[in-house]
Amino acid sequence: MDRNRSASLHRTQAFFTSRAADWEERFADDAPQFERAVREMQLPHGALVLDLGCGTGRAMPMLQAAVGAAGLVIGLDATSAMLLEATRRGRRPVVLGDVLCLPFADRCADAIFAAGLLPHLEEPIAALAEMARVSKPGATLALFHPIGRATLAARHGRALSDEDVLAPKRLADLLGRTGWHLHFLDDAAERYLALAQRQA
Ligand SMILES: C[S@@+](CC[C@H](N)C(=O)[O-])C[C@H]1O[C@@H](n2cnc3c(N)ncnc32)[C@H](O)[C@@H]1O
Repeated sequence: MDRNRSASLHRTQAFFTSRAADWEERFADDAPQFERAVREMQLPHGALVLDLGCGTGRAMPMLQAAVGAAGLVIGLDATSAMLLEATRRGRRPVVLGDVLCLPFADRCADAIFAAGLLPHLEEPIAALAEMARVSKPGATLALFHPIGRATLAARHGRALSDEDVLAPKRLADLLGRTGWHLHFLDDAAERYLALAQRQA
C-alpha cells in the first residue's frame, strides 16, 4: 500500500475508532430505512452477501434474514473497534480488511451492501472495481445512506455538489466505468439508495 493511501486509511480508522462504542445508539432511528433498503435489494434465499464497511454490523441481521439459513452474510470493515462492537453484539462472521483489496475470490458474491462507505473512500473507482471483481455477473450492489445526500453533506460541513461521489451523474459514470449498471436511484431527502447490477 502506498504511503498516501495508508495515511488516509489510518485517518479513517482513527475517526471511526472514537465513534464505535456509541455508534448504534447515536443512529438508532435509522433501522426502518435499513429494513426498507434490504427489502428493495430483493435478495434471493441462499445468497452470499458482503456487507462492506459494515461498521458495527447493524445491517447484518437484516441481510441474513433476507437470505435465510442457507445464505451467508460476511461483514468487512477497516476499523477493528467497529468490528469489536459487531462481535460484542453477536454479528458474525466479520473480517478486518480494506475494500480496495478484498480477501475474497473472483466472482463469489451474489450481492454487496455498502452503507455509508463510498464518501469515506479517496479512491472510489478502485473500490467499485474491486467490488466488481468479487461479484458474480448479475450480482446486486446497493450503495445506501439512511439519510439524504443534502443532510449528509451538511453533517460533513460541505455544500451539495455535482462532483460528490453519490451525485447521480457522477455515480452512474463511475459505476459504468467499473463494470456496473446503475438501474435504480433514490436520491431523496430522507435517504439515499443506488442499486446497480454487475455486468457480464
Ligand atoms: C459511516 S460508517 C458506516 C458503518 C455501517 N455500514 C453503518 O451504516 O452503520 C463507514 C464505515 O466504513 C469503514 N471504512 C472506511 N474506509 C474503509 C475501507 N477502505 N475499507 C473498509 N472499511 C472502510 C469505516 O471503518 C466505517 O466503519
